[in-house]
Amino acid sequence: MTLRVAILISGSGSNMVRLVEDMVGDHPARPCLVLSNVASAGGLGKAQARGVPTAVVDHKPYGDDRAAFEEALHSALVAHGTQIICLAGFMRVLTEGFVRRWEGKMLNIHPSLLPKYKGLNTHARALEAGDTQAGCSVHLVTPALDDGPILGQRAVPIQPGDTVDALAARVLVEEHQLYPAALRDFCESVSKHNE
Ligand code: GRF
Repeated sequence: MTLRVAILISGSGSNMVRLVEDMVGDHPARPCLVLSNVASAGGLGKAQARGVPTAVVDHKPYGDDRAAFEEALHSALVAHGTQIICLAGFMRVLTEGFVRRWEGKMLNIHPSLLPKYKGLNTHARALEAGDTQAGCSVHLVTPALDDGPILGQRAVPIQPGDTVDALAARVLVEEHQLYPAALRDFCESVSKHNE
C-alpha cells in the first residue's frame, strides 16, 4: 500500500520540492498534502504547480492557544489521509500533545550536526565556535526540540572566511540530498514492517 506523506512548511519550500520530486516511480510513498502556517509561503505555489494538494492553517488567529492551532493542524492532516509527516522548514514549535499523536511517524530536517546546535541560528553558532565542519541532520521528532533519533546526517567543511549565508547555502545543497534519501529509507522500512 502506498504511504501518504504530508509536508509542513513555512517558507520557500526547497526541501519540500526535493521530497515531492523524489516520491515517484518505485518510491513507497506519495505526497498527499503540503501544509503551511503562513499563507504567503512561497512553497505553496511550488506544490500546486506539482499537483500536490495544499492547505493553510494560520497560527495567528489562535494566539497563545497552541492546542487549538494543533487541533486544526491535526484535522487537516487526517482529512488528507496522512500517515507520515515531514517537517521541512516549518517554523512552529509543536507541543508534546501533538508530537505524541504522530510519534514515530514525523521527521524533521535540521541544519546542524545534531546534537550540536539545536534551535535557531545554527550556522552562526558553528562559525562562532570555530568548528571545522557544519552540516545537517534528519531525525524523528520527539517532544524535546531537535532531539529525536537521528536517521541520517551530512557534514560540510567550514572554509576560512566563511559567512553565515555562504555556509547556509552549502548546507542546503546537502539537505536536498539527505532528506529525500532519509525519507525513502524510512518509508521502505515502514512498508516492509506493514507487509
Ligand atoms: C532549511 O535550512 C531547514 O533545514 C530549516 O529551514 C530551512 C528550510 O528551507 N529547518 P526550505 O524552506 O526547505 O527552502
